Amino acid sequence: MTILVTGGAGFIGSNFVLDWFAQGAGPVINLDKLTYAGNPANLHALKDNPEHVFVHGDICDRELVRSLLERHAPRAIVHFAAESHVDRSIHGPGDFVQTNILGTFTLLEEVRSWLEKQAPSRREDFRFLHVSTDEVFGSLAPHDPPFKESTPFAPNSPYAASKAAADHLVRAYHHTYGLPTLTVNCSNNYGPYQFPEKLIPLMILNAITHKPLPVYGEGGNVRDWLYVQDHCTAIRRVLERGRVGESYNVGGYNQKTNLEVVNAICALLDEARPNRKSPHSMLISFVKDRPGHDRRYAMDATKIAIQLEWTPSESFDSGLRKTVAWYLDNPDWVAHVTSGAYRQWIEKNYAKRGEA
Ligand code: NAD
Ligand code: TYD
Repeated sequence: MTILVTGGAGFIGSNFVLDWFAQGAGPVINLDKLTYAGNPANLHALKDNPEHVFVHGDICDRELVRSLLERHAPRAIVHFAAESHVDRSIHGPGDFVQTNILGTFTLLEEVRSWLEKQAPSRREDFRFLHVSTDEVFGSLAPHDPPFKESTPFAPNSPYAASKAAADHLVRAYHHTYGLPTLTVNCSNNYGPYQFPEKLIPLMILNAITHKPLPVYGEGGNVRDWLYVQDHCTAIRRVLERGRVGESYNVGGYNQKTNLEVVNAICALLDEARPNRKSPHSMLISFVKDRPGHDRRYAMDATKIAIQLEWTPSESFDSGLRKTVAWYLDNPDWVAHVTSGAYRQWIEKNYAKRGEA
């Protein structure tokens, strides 16, 4: 009953692995390269659990992937490993092509040749679940209907293009070789263990240390926010009941402008950490926009709701409250991830933005 998880020391991957064990769902082989975004501390709760086997390695390493398949004969792969931050993909797209496209290709190739040697019943039960994003569909105008599974791909950032390429490979491996694949395309996640390069944790941590809150452009860009545990539930549901070869859109039904999100964080911090001099929102600073910044994402998650009876259980208010509380309650985790290399990234991404 073992599953192989890739990228299980990152934000969503570690939440997924922790939830998986909380459900008593079986052993996990966790393959992660531990890039800047991978953090073994996220998995601290599993340190004495013999059913969690952590493997420090790269999904592009064919021999390693082959040996893990042969040794552990997993019943599924849940593939999270990726370079995941749009701004980093603008500064340096090479790693995105390498991990997101070639890494996914490596996994698909090794799974294909390993499965060919397995008994028909094992082949039939196996699943390759690819975790992807709404960003493959491009950008919506304010009144456009949300993305459906059938919306044509139109990726705009190097990150989105690399994920779209991976999605196409996954689709092709099902269509051509009959690989039992599943894909989830999800909207923006937030929650515990998110690396503070992304909007919500960056704003929480800047606000509690009284640093400026750098809103790109006018702050009118819209994202559809989903609490990470709801995403994990959706992935488990797709793994159990999804139709092989299909993709499922997953969304939070929470479309917010960036300015609304930042103001909501500030209001929660005004409650939890009142600053007698001025509200946290006074720290908001409008800075130079992201090049090619997608205006709006929104997901039509009707297919997964009807076919697999999944809907999110967290509202934006309750999820954001939990998230702010988690960052306030975990100063050691925060101190660890905001040292050294993180500071260099902040300098690189924000120093030249100035005021909008
Ligand atoms: P993350 O950046 O927090 O974590 C990525 C993990 O992958 C890290 O642990 C990293 O060490 C690992 N990794 C990177 N390159 C690797 C390689 N070559 N080999 C092995 N491991 C490697 O990302 P996340 O936010 O947890 O996203 C996980 C997945 O979900 C990604 O595929 C992402 O595209 C997708 N996704 C993310 C969001 C979101 O809002 N965060 C939304 C939709 C989809
Ligand atoms: P992000 O968390 O990077 O996710 P994505 O780009 O994948 O949607 O950004 C979410 C939104 O917040 C996006 O519109 C860009 C914006 N943003 C800011 O305004 N300021 C920031 O410092 C960051 C990191 C993001």
